[in-house]
Amino acid sequence: MTQDEMKKAVARAAITYVVEGELVGVGTGSTANCFIDELALIRHRVRGTVASSEASKRRLEGHGLPVLELNDVERLPIYVDGADEINAAMQMIKGGGGALTREKIVAAVADMFVCIADQSKRVDVLGRFPLPVEVIPMALRHVLRQLAAIGGTPVLREGFVTDNGNLIVDVAGLEIVDAVGLETRINQIVGVVTNGLFASRPADVCLLGTAAGVQTLTAA
Ligand code: A5P
Repeated sequence: MTQDEMKKAVARAAITYVVEGELVGVGTGSTANCFIDELALIRHRVRGTVASSEASKRRLEGHGLPVLELNDVERLPIYVDGADEINAAMQMIKGGGGALTREKIVAAVADMFVCIADQSKRVDVLGRFPLPVEVIPMALRHVLRQLAAIGGTPVLREGFVTDNGNLIVDVAGLEIVDAVGLETRINQIVGVVTNGLFASRPADVCLLGTAAGVQTLTAA
């Protein structure tokens, strides 16, 4: 199976988690795009969606799927999204596409987080993928200094502005053993909107695309 085929396979598998007649939280990225395409095939079975980015919103609406504002939603049974890395505890690094803040907000509301990923995303220790951090523009220099003090190498993502009008700093060279601790610590830096560690709220299940098919993983 190619990486693309794995993404499509996990997206298809995630459809079984969609609750009949309910809302679906939808992530961002190439794997989430595969899920949106699958969701379109069963659009008559869902009440609507909540999108974690403008790009996903456009794709959902392009398929004729209703997209609701999160503030108009009382309950979200599931959220389906990809990841840049996921470990055995179902903790993730996300934000390769820069949508981490809205992803984290929608995931926080959802009862269940279904992570869909190809096998390249499964790691023992988080941190090889540079950790994205969303930053208020006027705080950039301050946040860069604070992140360097933590031990990584922070680099501004050039020419990129988030859906919220902010900047992304990617922190390379981290070996993340205490993911909850680091998530909390980075969020304490004034000027940080949020960071791409999804450790306090990990995935509930990961559908992992492998050469042998889709594996269903839960926290070890
Ligand atoms: C978007 O901001 C990210 O969190 C994505 O979920 C993550 O980068 C995975 O994207 P792919 O499915 O494109 O690898």
